Amino acid sequence: KELVFSGVQPTGNLHLGNYLGAIKRFVAMQAQYECLYCVVDLHAITVWQDPGELTRQIREVTAAFLAAGIDPARSVVFNQSQVPQHAELAWIFNCVARLGWLNRMTQFKEKAGKDRENASIGLYDYPVLMAADILAYRATHVPVGEDQKQHLELTRDIAQKFNNDFAGAIAEHGHGEAFFPLTEPLIGGPAARVMSLRDGTKKMSKSDPSDYSRINLTDDPDAIAQKVRKAKTDAEPLPSETAGLEKRPEADNLVGIFAALNDASREDVLREYGGAQFSAFKGALVDLAVAKLGPIGAEMKRLVADPGHIDAVLAEGAARAEAIAAPNIAAVKDIVGFVRRR
Ligand code: AQP
Repeated sequence: KELVFSGVQPTGNLHLGNYLGAIKRFVAMQAQYECLYCVVDLHAITVWQDPGELTRQIREVTAAFLAAGIDPARSVVFNQSQVPQHAELAWIFNCVARLGWLNRMTQFKEKAGKDRENASIGLYDYPVLMAADILAYRATHVPVGEDQKQHLELTRDIAQKFNNDFAGAIAEHGHGEAFFPLTEPLIGGPAARVMSLRDGTKKMSKSDPSDYSRINLTDDPDAIAQKVRKAKTDAEPLPSETAGLEKRPEADNLVGIFAALNDASREDVLREYGGAQFSAFKGALVDLAVAKLGPIGAEMKRLVADPGHIDAVLAEGAARAEAIAAPNIAAVKDIVGFVRRR
């Protein structure tokens, strides 16, 4: 059975990269798959979070999911800490994953920075918890931005090693040759990696100190216009073919953003704007971004004003998520050889 899982951290302003690389694609997948969309609060605390702010951010990411068009009656929308199976499976996977595998993770190196001795163990273990998030549901597909590719590969390595290590018990308990699927990452589209508006070689990120580096989902039209107008570009007009975007990271980024917002390809955008100056192209991009993001931001503000409703959506989602995960984790315990309460 095909099943989609993905998550977003409640760790700061959601931006255009989170929207185009992830949330917008989550919405589209609902037509084709059974989907679980998770606010990954256990991941968030791998770096320090102010408790009150964390609560607010969990509700805000949930609001963004709903405002963008995720339908909680169809998809399962919940926050990770309400479903204990994530943490439980993560422990078992800690005993499957190898230290050498985690030592290769580039996101840990970036996020831990120079003071690695002082990073939390949770930050180091982040990819193992992510594998547990996905495999607790035996999800077959995970839509993510390109920055998550290495973590998805680790998820597949963990699934494969578990399937191999426990092959005998898996067969004995009637699960055939493999218990976990080798989950496929769904990375792609024109905005798989949205870059900073200030530097086309850095990804757009919540933690960039400059707010001008990103467009937040809650930015008003004036802020969007200012940020797009100030976005770094080169002096050449837009090329008429995508080959002309090579070695022009800022131009490539703006064309990719336009394409993704408009459900088009870079080729389509250049067919219309090839030869245009950036001043004209940026004007069109502002209009498009305001038209697409404005209603989402407004709906988010409306939704967060009613935390009771959001909390009810999360509680219902958590119950549905647990109903899928619990039998999977019970089966894992049998496979590993634990004695279970029956
Ligand atoms: N720049 C991006 N382009 C495309 N996709 C992106 N994603 C994040 N940044 C971009 C995707 O958004 C989803 C949720 O991300 P997250 O909140 O779980 O994690 P993150 O990568 O920590 O987000 P940031 O903004 O990059 O935060 P910091 O600044 O802390 O590093 C994921 O699917 C991710 O791929």
